[in-house]
Amino acid sequence: MIAHDIACIPGDGIGTEVTAAARTVLDAAGRRHGIAFRYDELDWSCARHEREGAMMPADGLERLARRDAILLGAVGAPGVADHVSLWGLLIPIRRTFRQYVNLRPIRVFPGVPSPLRDAGPEVDLVVVRENTEGEYSEIGGRFNRGEPGELAVQEAVFTRTGVTRILDYAFALAARRGGHLTSATKSNGIVHTMPFWDELVRERAAAAPGVAWDQEHIDALCAKLVLDPARFDVIVASNLFGDILSDLAAAVAGSIGMAPSGNLDPTGEHPSMFEPVHGSAPDIAGRGIANPVGAVWSAALMLDHLGHPEAAAEVLAAIERVLAAGAPRTPDLGGSAGTAEVAAAIAGALGEA
Ligand SMILES: NC(=O)c1ccc[n+]([C@@H]2O[C@H](COP(=O)([O-])OP(=O)(O)OC[C@H]3O[C@@H](n4cnc5c(N)ncnc54)[C@H](O)[C@@H]3O)[C@@H](O)[C@H]2O)c1
Repeated sequence: MIAHDIACIPGDGIGTEVTAAARTVLDAAGRRHGIAFRYDELDWSCARHEREGAMMPADGLERLARRDAILLGAVGAPGVADHVSLWGLLIPIRRTFRQYVNLRPIRVFPGVPSPLRDAGPEVDLVVVRENTEGEYSEIGGRFNRGEPGELAVQEAVFTRTGVTRILDYAFALAARRGGHLTSATKSNGIVHTMPFWDELVRERAAAAPGVAWDQEHIDALCAKLVLDPARFDVIVASNLFGDILSDLAAAVAGSIGMAPSGNLDPTGEHPSMFEPVHGSAPDIAGRGIANPVGAVWSAALMLDHLGHPEAAAEVLAAIERVLAAGAPRTPDLGGSAGTAEVAAAIAGALGEA
């Protein structure tokens, strides 16, 4: 029996509901594959912020550092500004633990209609988003607040180390998948950082001769992702472009509730964090109807990262089987089932031929 220590941060709203669902499936997969999960359940959230003035305790990051991985639901509540929940929890975790890869796989599953008329199961792509630098930087400021001459400046930060490592990860992933990589750029309008990004893409491509690659300006890429999503395999993008692209691609797949993500430190030196792409969805929270697929698929990414690719593949196959069967499914997919019912069906489908 292999044991893993998992920090579990359910967060707010539907975060708590989908995390419970993910644990149901993880535990069932663990029983089948000889893996035990020990969860350290942490109440870090906007609810905690309202109670105690901080999203997490002062020694929060030290506590996480000792765990093998972090499973997160979602944070966000109407009473706490979104930048507080982001910069008070998620960004410190991503940056302290050098989770420089944000991995966002997207598939149109058989039996799940895409809002795009012609998009079917041939849509199977991964957005690799740079997760620690780029446009999401703290460098900048405001000047002459409230005056007619008021101005705001925010610097984008692209380092050779940061760009090279995300490109190397993306090229290696493309080599293991369909052998094609698309780089998102905007070097016609952004004249310093993006030409630097493009140069490094060319440099790193030379080190990955088995991968065919191209580059697209982000605006054209958004249009192509809607018009012909099946043409893409791996898309590598800066922090901002990757953030936008992956939500767009998740919508193409049918529901934001099904999109997973991994925040990875590929070196394994620090814990990686796994979370569905969606937020805390206050509009449906507390009703037990959130789609758990994004959280369960995130748990599968965690299994893969922890060295259990067979268990991970089995969870993904079980998701696929339940979705293809048409029921049970949650209201966002046109069904009437609850979160726990879908999770139990996925757990029950593990290992079915
Ligand atoms: N990583 C995170 O923790 C994260 C990510 C995004 C948003 N947020 C936060 O969540 C809060 C709400 O944000 P939002 O409304 O922009 O985005 P959201 O993803 O929470 O919800 C957008 C829409 O999608 C629906 N939806 C989302 N997940 C679903 C699921 N699993 N099943 C069924 N329907 C689902 C919601 O009902 C809502 O109509 C905000 O406070 C925001 O900051 C957190």
